[in-house]
Amino acid sequence: MVKKNIKNWDNKTWLSSKNYINSFNNFLIKNFKINSRFKILDIGCGRGKILGSLSSKIKLKEKPLGIDIVNHKDKDKRINFKRTNVLELSLKKNEKFDLILIKQTIHLMKFNEIKKLLKSLKKNLNSNGSILIFTLDTEKNEIPTFKLMKQKLNQSFQRDKKILRMIKNLYPHIIKKSFSFNVKITKKKYLNMIQNRYISTLIPLSKKQISQGTQEIEKRYKSVLRFKDKLICIIL
Ligand SMILES: C[S@@+](CC[C@H](N)C(=O)[O-])C[C@H]1O[C@@H](n2cnc3c(N)ncnc32)[C@H](O)[C@@H]1O
Repeated sequence: MVKKNIKNWDNKTWLSSKNYINSFNNFLIKNFKINSRFKILDIGCGRGKILGSLSSKIKLKEKPLGIDIVNHKDKDKRINFKRTNVLELSLKKNEKFDLILIKQTIHLMKFNEIKKLLKSLKKNLNSNGSILIFTLDTEKNEIPTFKLMKQKLNQSFQRDKKILRMIKNLYPHIIKKSFSFNVKITKKKYLNMIQNRYISTLIPLSKKQISQGTQEIEKRYKSVLRFKDKLICIIL
C-alpha cells in the first residue's frame, strides 16, 4: 500500500545533501564492512542518490539495484532502477544480495505486506547478508513540527512501534543501531519542505492545515533550525 506517492522526500532537502548522504554511507560502510564485491538492493530507493554515491565511494563492481514505485526523471545513473510496487517484485531465485536496504519506507506498508515482503527478501539474501530497516526514531525524535503535524507524527510513531514489535516477534535475533545527523536548515527552506509535504504525515493534510502549520512554524522557530534527524536501524 502506498498512501499517496511521496515525491518531494529527497528533492533538494538535507536528505539529498552531500553531507547527509556521505554521513549515512559512512555509517553503512563502518557497520556493515561493505566492499566492492557487495551486491546491494534498495527497496523504496527514491532518486537512488544514496546507493549511487555509495557505489562511487567503494567502487562497487556491480551497480546496486533500486526499486521504487515512482520513476523520478532525475534519478541516479549509477544504479540499476526498476519501477515497480515492491509488493509485486519478483526476483530470480538465484539472485542473492549481501545487503538489502529499506530506508524510511516500511511504515508506508500494511502489517501483512511487511511480513510477506521480509519473508520473500530473506530468500534473496546471501547466507551472511543483512536486511537493514531504517525508520524514524520514535522516542527521541527532534523533527520540527507544528501542532497538528506533531499529533499525526505521534500517531504514526505508535504504529511504527507496533511494526517493530511485529518484526521482533518474527525475527527475535534482530540487532538495533542508531544513526543521527545534525541538520542545520534555514526556516525558509524548511517551510518550503513543509509546503512540499516532504514527509508522509503531511500528505493527507488540507491546504488550509498546511498553511496554518507554516504560520505556526514561522512564529515558533528562529531563522535557522538546528536539530538531529535520528533513525533507528534494525538488522535482520
Ligand atoms: C520516504 S521515501 C524514502 C526514500 C529513500 N529510501 C530515502 O531514504 O531517501 C519512501 C520511498 O518509498 C517508495 N515506496 C513506497 N511504497 C512503495 C512500494 N510499495 N513499492 C515501491 N516503492 C515504494 C516511495 O515512492 C518513496 O520513494
